[in-house]
Amino acid sequence: MKKIEAIIRPGKLEDIKNALAKYNVHGLTITQVMGCGKQKGKTEYYRGAVVELTLLQKLKVEIVAADNDVDNIIRIICDAARTGEIGDGKIFIYDIENVYRIRTGESGDIAI
Ligand SMILES: Nc1ncnc2c1ncn2[C@@H]1O[C@H](COP(=O)(O)OP(=O)(O)OP(=O)(O)O)[C@@H](O)[C@H]1O
Ligand SMILES: [Mg+2]
Repeated sequence: MKKIEAIIRPGKLEDIKNALAKYNVHGLTITQVMGCGKQKGKTEYYRGAVVELTLLQKLKVEIVAADNDVDNIIRIICDAARTGEIGDGKIFIYDIENVYRIRTGESGDIAI
């Protein structure tokens, strides 16, 4: 099992959700985050002080998936999230040790 953590443009959430639903991915967690990437936002003055990093509003989408589904989910997210402009986002992949469905006590792939 892996966790796919995608940092995306907020305006792309609906497209990504719809694309994932078509692939039968229903479990996900969304968090509002702020961040910056390679361009560091741009250096600018803020209340008289030089700000080195400009943090931009992004969304974090977390999906835990079976190993066999990971490549497809990454492709779906990339296709739905891409505009081709800087700031399209980034995807991080983590190993997941186990998943438990609290209601039933199931664990492993069937609990995803
Ligand atoms: N190395 C990183 N570690 C943690 N978070 C990151 C990292 N790089 C980017 N992010 C997060 O992803 C968001 C989007 O990053 P962004 O798409 O600008 O990446 P980039 O590497 O600058 O690529 P691009 O050149 O396409 O803009 C950032 O606002 C930040 O929240
Ligand atoms: Mg960037």
